[in-house]
Amino acid sequence: MTFSWKNLERPIIVLSPMADMTDSAFCQTVKDVANPVVFREMVSAEAMVRQNERTQEMAEFVDAERPIIQQIFGADPDTMTKAAAIVDSEYHPEGIDINMGCPVYKITSQFNGAALMKEPDCAARMIRQMKAAISVPLSVKIRAGWDSPNECLTFCRIVEDAGADLITVHGRTKAQGYSGYSNWSVIREVKRRVSIPVLANGDIFSAHDVKRVLEITGADGVLIARGALGNPWIFSQARELLQTGAIQTIPTVAEHFALVLTHAKRHIAQYGQRGIVTFRKHLSWYTKGMEGAKTFRSRLVRIATYDELVALLHPYLTNQTPMPLTRMPSPQPESY
Ligand SMILES: Cc1cc2nc3c(=O)[nH]c(=O)nc-3n(C[C@H](O)[C@H](O)[C@H](O)COP(=O)(O)O)c2cc1C
Repeated sequence: MTFSWKNLERPIIVLSPMADMTDSAFCQTVKDVANPVVFREMVSAEAMVRQNERTQEMAEFVDAERPIIQQIFGADPDTMTKAAAIVDSEYHPEGIDINMGCPVYKITSQFNGAALMKEPDCAARMIRQMKAAISVPLSVKIRAGWDSPNECLTFCRIVEDAGADLITVHGRTKAQGYSGYSNWSVIREVKRRVSIPVLANGDIFSAHDVKRVLEITGADGVLIARGALGNPWIFSQARELLQTGAIQTIPTVAEHFALVLTHAKRHIAQYGQRGIVTFRKHLSWYTKGMEGAKTFRSRLVRIATYDELVALLHPYLTNQTPMPLTRMPSPQPESY
């Protein structure tokens, strides 16, 4: 069946794009235990058009990752259009997303990412052209604004009028970076102003946060980024909580670390034996908040081989205690 944001089961639950994190190995691992729509990490439009080999590899995926959305970043509407057409015709994801939210200087200084929110005419032309060039839905991920959280209230209409099929709002401004809170009230306001589906993003760290952000914003769904790192179960836990009022799937410590090993194997398959070094960042998330595990964590983030990882995890692989549900507290204010 053709993928359509309008027809997806509500609420829509999505793995948010994260550079160097939401690669094929991680997305496959998430799909082992849950079934969110996955957004792959952003790829450069310019590099895609130039046929850069590493960028081409980044866009590859396996069928088990579907439904999958490939995010693209760039400043020039013509290059973005060419890149979107290449991604659509050569890789066949379910959808394509434009990054209009990245706050990193390297990106915004080249007028990419959140900088497009300051260039509404260029952003609208980009959306119109890309939409006309591809056969799959086109979505746009924005921030609340550049300086002020109200900027998205006009920008969201520009995105809709230009023909986007869905909009995601991370409720922080570019100026905020990752400080403060994601402003869920402003996401509610965007939802009131557009008729295309809206996804809420920012500070969703548990199934209970998913329930709360949906109640507050009235959004059609959520994008979860940091809350999924080290906890791919968050997506199925959220679905269970929403459907039955309780979380049924709580992995044991043994199940949790068995999944870590599966992920590590895939990571090495994707990046080669040296991949274990870049896997350390995931290990740090998988053990976040583990009480009394300071030495274990410090040894883990220094491992150099897969066998060392297996040896360190061995004592945990028979532990039938449930993993703690939330390993990162929600920083959101109590009232909205
Ligand atoms: C390591 C990392 C990499 C990210 N890379 C991207 C990216 O490639 N594209 C994008 O739109 N957002 C990216 N983001 C932003 C997230 O998708 C998300 O909007 C933000 O982290 C807020 O959601 P959260 O509170 O659930 O983490 C990244 C975030 C992190 C932490």
